[in-house]
Amino acid sequence: MKRHLISAADLTRDDALLILDTAAELAGVAARPIKKLPTLRGRTVVNLFFEDSTRTRISFEAAAKRLSADVINFSAKGSSVAKGESLKDTALTLEAMGADAVVIRHSASGAAHRLAEWVRGSVVNAGDGTHEHPTQALLDAFTIRQRLARQGAVPDGRDVPHDLRDAGPDGRGAALDGVRVTIVGDVLHGRVARSNVLLLSTLGAEVTLVAPPTLLPFAVGSWPCSVGYDLDAELPKSDVVMMLRVQQERMTAAYFPTIREYRRRYGLDAGRMALLPGHAIVMHPGPMNRGMEIAADVADSPRSTVVDQVANGVTVRMAVLYLLLGGAEAAS
Ligand code: NCD
Repeated sequence: MKRHLISAADLTRDDALLILDTAAELAGVAARPIKKLPTLRGRTVVNLFFEDSTRTRISFEAAAKRLSADVINFSAKGSSVAKGESLKDTALTLEAMGADAVVIRHSASGAAHRLAEWVRGSVVNAGDGTHEHPTQALLDAFTIRQRLARQGAVPDGRDVPHDLRDAGPDGRGAALDGVRVTIVGDVLHGRVARSNVLLLSTLGAEVTLVAPPTLLPFAVGSWPCSVGYDLDAELPKSDVVMMLRVQQERMTAAYFPTIREYRRRYGLDAGRMALLPGHAIVMHPGPMNRGMEIAADVADSPRSTVVDQVANGVTVRMAVLYLLLGGAEAAS
């Protein structure tokens, strides 16, 4: 594994499987009354959050603490640290404190990459602008594998994920070969879709993006996925449908006529959910705009993995920190 986790593209298929399988091992810890391992005792993990976050920040903090690391939380939202030079000054401070790992969320695409040039420890990208969010993709892959394996994967008759059917508990050891994942919504302003397309395709899944043309990035043609515009046509073929938040705070223009119109074409309500095959699951990284991209009854339905995704976020991040720090000798 590389020393930093900046992009989902940093991970080979073997790296990704190692992280998912390590997370599956660590999941046992979360079920214990005392949820702590001594693995990273004496190591320092800094959470550097320049942008709002609930799930991701808490999740990284819980992950580091469950591995007994010392955790320093630095949140600089709204401060003047938004520019390159001041990010560098922050990095030098972290160096002086001897951070072994720095988890960074920043509104600028590329911030994690820059930081990695300035610090000796491992940098983990927890979301940089509209670029990437690799641990979100890892926890999504983990959740897909776990749910499909628990459900006995997809029905027979399709020449796909046999290995999920034969895998260990919760899909351990299996990749996502042939699993069909449809990612829907605001691909342009988010970072979840890009990281998921890269990681899920590395793991063998077939990914389709469905979005209004205005909410697709220009370069999407070079991504390892296909693109569709008709959600109703894609749903019956999907094992997984992942709804993305409409990122209104990042929108500088009118990307769709009205919320109602968006919901009519790209929102997932109960009627639309009924078009999915029986085994299919519904995902959302959160925070959800209930009633916009996802209806409340869909978000709370048994097909929804929203709560699993949050729980799995902690174990997947434990695995990432453990492999980057604990296994530091092996890292290049
Ligand atoms: C995502 C993010 O911040 O990129 N949220 C998260 O990490 N769970 C998605 C979003 O904000 O819509």
